[in-house]
Amino acid sequence: MDDSIKLADAFGRRFPYLRLSVTDVCNFRCSYCLPDGYIKSGCEPFLSRTEIKRLVGAFADLGVKKIRLTGGEPTVRADFLDIAKDISLLTGIRKLAFTTNGYKLPEKAEAYLDSGLRHINISIDSLKPKQFEKITGHGRLNEILKGVELCLALGFDSVKINTVLLKHLNDQELDSFIEFVADKPISLRFIELMRTGGNHAYFNDHHLSGSAVTERLIQLGWSLKARGHDSGPALEFVHVKSLGSIGLIAPYSKDFCKTCNRLRVSSKGGLHLCLFGEGGFPLRPLLQSDEQREELKSMILKLMNFKKSGHFLHDGNSGATPHLASIGG
Ligand code: 5AD
Ligand code: SF4
Repeated sequence: MDDSIKLADAFGRRFPYLRLSVTDVCNFRCSYCLPDGYIKSGCEPFLSRTEIKRLVGAFADLGVKKIRLTGGEPTVRADFLDIAKDISLLTGIRKLAFTTNGYKLPEKAEAYLDSGLRHINISIDSLKPKQFEKITGHGRLNEILKGVELCLALGFDSVKINTVLLKHLNDQELDSFIEFVADKPISLRFIELMRTGGNHAYFNDHHLSGSAVTERLIQLGWSLKARGHDSGPALEFVHVKSLGSIGLIAPYSKDFCKTCNRLRVSSKGGLHLCLFGEGGFPLRPLLQSDEQREELKSMILKLMNFKKSGHFLHDGNSGATPHLASIGG
């Protein structure tokens, strides 16, 4: 038991992991997320570099050790590398990760690594160029795959791929994805499509249960890896003949929320206790000066009591989130 982790809720879960969205803007148009591309809403700016430094500093004091930068597409921010450098220098932060769509990855990978971003998650929903373009609105698959190879060569601490499971769009490619990681030290995670406020019809057409993946993996001789004591809700499968592993993130499965170990802050400073919770509690007013640090920490601690046991998605509730670009998945 690590006593430095101060953030805990009423259900005995502890939170050493913060996912921080740095922008809602995205340059892709994934059909399940932003089919019409990013549309600006409101005039409040995203958190500044200084506000982010204060925010992450307070979370680090409270025992948060891993930060993931998300968006939207976090790398579209002009000061993205500076934000990463700031965070990587904060005491207590041991792991700095980010999720990206891989835009211009071959040109940028080295700079990411140099800025302290040692863990990269790249979203790839199809390994067929045409299908990739159909899903994301961009014909950039080959560039992204080159980027993946480069990240492996450069020696990131971890290279992961996120693949949203989509009935009729990529469910024929299960075996190709599995083969893709056979000779690469990559953890590829299949993510069950989540219903958000804005994608109900799409969800009905394309949602595929994660059990389709589990069944195929077992058939091919893969086995479920024992859970680490601090691992999150992903199930991880391994195979003696594969260098890579395959994960499954199935938010609709029973017990998914029991292993929740993360909190989220939106690009405008809203603390979200659950991906599917309502609104988000505004922390921004407490990010306006260094003197507010203690007040900010007490507020975050107090808010932990409001974390609910689960997301209640089974009741057809998709929460207030219109799409995950606003809270970073
Ligand atoms: N369901 C599941 N995953 C989603 N993502 C975005 N929207 C959804 C959704 N509705 C994923 C992206 C990417 C990560 C940022 O979040 O595919 O891998
Ligand atoms: Fe952009 Fe990610 Fe949403 Fe795709 S899933 S539109 S890459 S934020």
